[in-house]
Amino acid sequence: MNETINNLKTRRSIRKFKDKQISDEDLQAILEAGTYAPTALGMQSPKIIVIQNPETIKEFSDWNRSYYPINVPDDLDPFYGAKTILIVLANGKMPTFVEDGASVITTLVNAAHAVGVGSCWIHRAREEFSSEKGKALLKEWGIPEKYEGVGHVALGYPDMDLPKPRPRKEDFIHYVD
Ligand SMILES: Cc1cc2nc3c(=O)[nH]c(=O)nc-3n(C[C@H](O)[C@H](O)[C@H](O)COP(=O)(O)O)c2cc1C
Repeated sequence: MNETINNLKTRRSIRKFKDKQISDEDLQAILEAGTYAPTALGMQSPKIIVIQNPETIKEFSDWNRSYYPINVPDDLDPFYGAKTILIVLANGKMPTFVEDGASVITTLVNAAHAVGVGSCWIHRAREEFSSEKGKALLKEWGIPEKYEGVGHVALGYPDMDLPKPRPRKEDFIHYVD
């Protein structure tokens, strides 16, 4: 099978990571690939935030958990112990900001898999960055207030077997005349 297609088909969400930081070489390869994601009008509206400071990750983990739609235990880490967290933001003034951000996240997770790094797409960035705290962080980071959160990517070396994908639903693809 074509290597790229095989990579796309074998990527799975990883929810248990080794207690080891990913190499900078792997990180840079993943980030660079992310910047090549398709974006509307080629405007490259998204930004990728990289967090590796354990204290900052813990703060984001607690914050992200606070937006879970259901009650979950206080020790649940929405990032599954990952030592690198990416946050994808996109310019909220673009009508396509969600699609632009999702395009970048998809590229990041597939690039991660291609270099042997496990990943999981983590939600609730919109809630984070539309809050007062999120707006203050944008200011602190020197990012314009118009940026919205689209999603996070947890990155690390997998400490689990790759799960088997669910069978693809039969009516996924429709051919029409
Ligand atoms: C928009 C979006 C949000 C997601 N949010 C989460 C999340 O918050 N936590 C999580 O563990 N997985 C999250 N996922 C991962 C999905 O659960 C996962 O992709 C799906 O179960 C299919 O599994 P696979 O990625 O292994 O193919 C998200 C995926 C998408 C596309």
